[in-house]
Amino acid sequence: MEKIGDFVLKISKRHNHRAFKYFTRKRSTQAAAAVQQDLQHELEGIKDAGTWKGERVITSKQGPTIHVAGSQADILNFCANNYLGLSSHPEVIEAGKKALDTHGAGLSSVRFICGTQDLHKELEDKISKFHKKEDTILYASCFDANAGLFEVLLGPEDAVISDELNHASIIDGIRLCKAKRFRYKHTDMKDLEQNLKDASSCHKKLIATDGVFSMDGSVAPLPDITRLGNEYGALVFIDECHGTGFLDQPAEELMSILDWKLIS
Ligand SMILES: Cc1ncc(COP(=O)(O)O)c(C=O)c1O
Repeated sequence: MEKIGDFVLKISKRHNHRAFKYFTRKRSTQAAAAVQQDLQHELEGIKDAGTWKGERVITSKQGPTIHVAGSQADILNFCANNYLGLSSHPEVIEAGKKALDTHGAGLSSVRFICGTQDLHKELEDKISKFHKKEDTILYASCFDANAGLFEVLLGPEDAVISDELNHASIIDGIRLCKAKRFRYKHTDMKDLEQNLKDASSCHKKLIATDGVFSMDGSVAPLPDITRLGNEYGALVFIDECHGTGFLDQPAEELMSILDWKLIS
């Protein structure tokens, strides 16, 4: 039987199509080997720099202490976002079991096609009421939510003004949109104001900030941010992964300043 690489080469010769030649098996094997060598080199560099991160396999529920494969002891867990203990709360587990019985495991499709159930709508409705907002849309993760927001709201004539310590998912989400990018010093309102002035010729302006910053726990000065947003005609986006339901102060501030200019 003719090998696929030879077949592609024959076609490419027949059509005098230069791009086809790169698809021969021999060349693609060489390319894969070169990439593998590069990656190996990069991985060794990461190990030498002491920044290699091995995967810890958890064998228990999430909680303040967890069990990890290869260790008998309880391990204190400081890195989950399970502040309220919801991921192992008996009522949440019970509700999950019931939903499996009535709605099955997963939608086998994305939301855009046929991935929305009545349970999603019910939860969205409850979250809207809790936040006193018009509507809510659920994403599977906040990383997904942040990847989905900026590109939809902002075009090349717009500006996004982002705190320099914003979470990686906000930074990635901003990369996906074509708006002009401005970055202000961490929670520095003078610098934010300067950036708003620099962005004044842009059409829509959006200030983006974590509510509570995940790495060092600092709290964004939300009243000042929204005041500047109002003054310079900018929308305010707040990533509330670490505040609502956990820290009173930002949650209350958030509630008190929620208006049409705020996306929570
Ligand atoms: C501020 C912030 N935004 C977004 C995310 C991503 O959230 P998820 O783990 O739900 O994708 C995190 C994760 O910890 C976060 O700290």
